Parts: sequence; C-alpha cells; structure tokens
Amino acid sequence: MNAPLHAPTAATELPPISDELLARYDVPGPRYTSYPTVPAWVDGFPEARYRQALQEADPELPLALYVHVPFCWSMCAYCGCNVVISKDQGRGDAYLDDLALEMDRVVDVVGRGRPVRSVHLGGGTPTFLTEAQLERLAELIGDRFLCEPTAELSVEINPSVTSLEQLRTLRSLGFNRLSMGVQDLDVGVQAAIRRTQTFDETQRFVDYARGLGFGSINFDLIYGLPRQTTRSWAGTLDQVLALRPDRLAVYSFAFVPEQRKNQRVLPAHELPRGREKVDLFRQAYKAFVYGGYEAIGMDHFALPGDELAQASRAGRLWRNFQGYTVHRDVETIAFGSSGISDIGGVYTQNIRPLGQYHRALEAGHLPVARGLALDLEDLERRDIINEIMCNLHVDLGEDGEVRFAEELAMLAPLEADGLVALDGPVVRVLPPGRLFLRNVAMPFDTRLRRPGGAASAERFSRTV
Ligand SMILES: C[S@@+](CC[C@H](N)C(=O)[O-])C[C@H]1O[C@@H](n2cnc3c(N)ncnc32)[C@H](O)[C@@H]1O
Ligand code: SF4
Repeated sequence: MNAPLHAPTAATELPPISDELLARYDVPGPRYTSYPTVPAWVDGFPEARYRQALQEADPELPLALYVHVPFCWSMCAYCGCNVVISKDQGRGDAYLDDLALEMDRVVDVVGRGRPVRSVHLGGGTPTFLTEAQLERLAELIGDRFLCEPTAELSVEINPSVTSLEQLRTLRSLGFNRLSMGVQDLDVGVQAAIRRTQTFDETQRFVDYARGLGFGSINFDLIYGLPRQTTRSWAGTLDQVLALRPDRLAVYSFAFVPEQRKNQRVLPAHELPRGREKVDLFRQAYKAFVYGGYEAIGMDHFALPGDELAQASRAGRLWRNFQGYTVHRDVETIAFGSSGISDIGGVYTQNIRPLGQYHRALEAGHLPVARGLALDLEDLERRDIINEIMCNLHVDLGEDGEVRFAEELAMLAPLEADGLVALDGPVVRVLPPGRLFLRNVAMPFDTRLRRPGGAASAERFSRTV
C-alpha cells in the first residue's frame, strides 16, 4: 500500500487520449484553487466573523501576504482576472491610501509580530504603479509586518508594460521572484488575443532580471488559445526553452464568455478544443520534460533544483490562491479589491468594485464581500483535494475505505479507464490521469453534489 507512490506519475510523455475518454471527462469543473470553491461561499459574509478569524488565528503560524493591484492599461482579450482598465496612474495613490487603511485595520486585530514568509503582488498589473508608488507600497508592508529574512517576495509582471527602472526598483525593495505573463510567443496567436510581446523583448527582460539578481523567474503560458496549432506552439515552446525560466505554469485556457465579456471578441471558431487542446498540453509536457523540467501538480513545471520540484519529489507540495507553493502551514491575508484571504479556517473575498471597496474602508469596515467558515468536513476534504491536485496521491487513512466508500466507488470508472490506481484507501493518479486531475478530485467535493451544486458546476470552465 505504501509502495513508491510518486514515481509512476513522472512519465516523460503523456499517452494519447482517446475521443471516448475525452467525451467522458471533459465536463465543467473547478480548478480547486480553493475547497470549498468560490460558488459555495456566502455573499454578505459577516465582517465580524472575519475579524474573529483574524483574532483567533494561531499566532505561531507564519503569514503569506497577497496584495491585489487591479489596474491594467488595456484589456487582454483572453483575460479572466479581476481588473480595472485605466490610463490614470494617479489612481494608484488613492488605492494605496485604501491599502494603508485596510492594513492598519487588519494589524489592529492580528498585531504586528506575526512573521511573514511570503509577499505576493498580483493583479491586474502591479507595475501599473509608478516607482514611487511601488516604494510606498513596500513601505506600507514593511511598517506593519515583519518579513522573515528568507521571505519570498514575488511580483506578477507583464513585461510589455514594465520598465527596466521599475524592475530595478522592485529588486532594490527586496523582491526576489518574478512571475511573467508570456502566454504565447506566436505572432498570429498574439494578434488573436490582442496582446503583443516579442521574443526579443521577453529575452531582454529576462536577462536584465537575472542580472539584477532575481532568484526565480516563472513564465505563465496558456494552451487552448485561438489560432494555436501544434506548429505555432512548437515555436513558442522552443523559444521558452531557450530562455530557461526556473518555473513554468501552463494554464488551460478558461473560455467563459458568458462571465467574461472581454472574451467575446475572441475568434471562438479558431479555438482548439477537445483532443486538439489536450494534445497542446501533451506537446508542452513532452517538450519541457525532455528539456530538463520536472512536471509539478496539474499544470506546472520546474527545473530540478527549484524548491517547487524538490517539494514535489518529496510529496509535500501545497497550493494556495496564487498557485503551487512549498509553504504548507501558512495563512494568507489578502489586501486590495477582490483579494482572497484564508486564515483561521475562514475564506473571505474583498469587495471587487473599487468605489465600494473604498467606501467600506472609509466607513471603518474591513471590506469583506463574501466568504465561508469551513467546518471540520470541509477542512478534511480540502486536504484530500489538495493532496490530489498537488501530490497526485492521497491516503484516506485507516477507515478510509468505509468513510469514503461512495467516493471510491465514483473513482472506479476512472480506475477502469487507467487514470487512477486504487489500493484500499490509497488513491494514486496514473500518468494519463494528470490530464484529468480535476475529475479525480471532484468525487471528494460533496458541496458540488449538494442541491444546487451541479448547477454551480456549470459556472466553471471545462476540465479539458
Ligand atoms: C492574474 S494574471 C496577471 C498577469 C499579468 N497581468 C500579465 O498579464 O502578464 C495571471 C495569469 O493568469 C493567466 N490567465 C489569465 N486569464 C486566463 C484565462 N482566461 N485562462 C487561463 N489562464 C488565464 C495568465 O497566464 C496570466 O499570466
Ligand atoms: S492578462 Fe494581465 S495585463 Fe492582460 S488584462 Fe489580464 S491582468 Fe491585465
């Protein structure tokens, strides 16, 4: 039962997937960046409950801080993030005033002593902020929290709107990791998604960042974008390999035009779907694994020396709202509009519209829009789902076969299809199952099966 559990998932190539298999498993389903997933959260979640969670959270646990900067200069047609389009950098000052208020209010409750293991600036486009605004943001954080000396300070970067001066400023403020949006380097695909970024520009940027001493560089890529073909994608993969980032996130394109109006301008008839789309991921998987990367979780890759790869090999990879992480027992406090916190057994999401977010702060509130207090069952299922999504293996424990009999029965067809191996209470994902991790996790999502849960499943992107 406790045989070598991780090795079989480390295939150098993913086998072809038949149309029958695809027809069975390509369904709407969560990406499980959280469990319970956001549609299960409650609108109007009481601010007092968030305050209580902040108060009662274990003071020994380190913190991960997330700061959301919602502004972008223009809207990318594929984007599924919470953004505010603006050309007025002055809005950054007002936003920083709000962040200061929010941080003060949180620090009043949690105190100043909690060690911070990581800070992540996400967006939107954090470098919408000027250098002076970035300095002020770093000061807001530094004045209120105590960063550990080895803290991971990372920032999401869109290279085409980030100056080398901004990069230098970020480095001088202690930022040591970059996550760069690359998506696809093919000119035709870039025209379709309305985002232009040349290879030379990207290379110059990476070289400069390395020269400044950024220790880890991640690229975000997306497969399943309009006009992507095996040929165009091969070109992108070659160019990416030439730049050799430390980490890669290769996201499945979430096409949800009902929810994201900006996606309606995409040429939908040119989207690779079904087997075509899966094959793009298989192609990337093969290119990166042969190129010396290790496959991590559902859709990430890392060089063997990277701590994400080390954690994955040791079966102790974990996940938070920003993606895969090596920090497991860490609680997240998010600041800024739409930011998501995960602390003291409670998830909360801040108000998204900037005006409302500002008014809530001005009126003396913590700007909570929705949230959920997890019960014991949620906490247990969250761990199970995270093990599957991160480590591709879960041991349901001594009486697991009895307690999770229904879930194991739901996994039996996946075993028959060669996606998982079931051994008593142990679920192990087999190489083809890596393409269907969301489907492997879904039987453990009892909230999806509750009345109304299936309807909410339709709100998710498709699993393939
Ligand atoms: C929050 S965005 C911020 C990135 C940064 N503003 C940029 O554009 O480079 C982080 C990443 O989410 C991914 N992403 C955005 N929209 C997506 C979608 N509809 N489907 C899949 N991935 C998406 C992209 O890879 C993007 O780099
Ligand atoms: S992809 Fe990045 S730059 Fe483009 S709209 Fe989304 S957050 Fe803004």
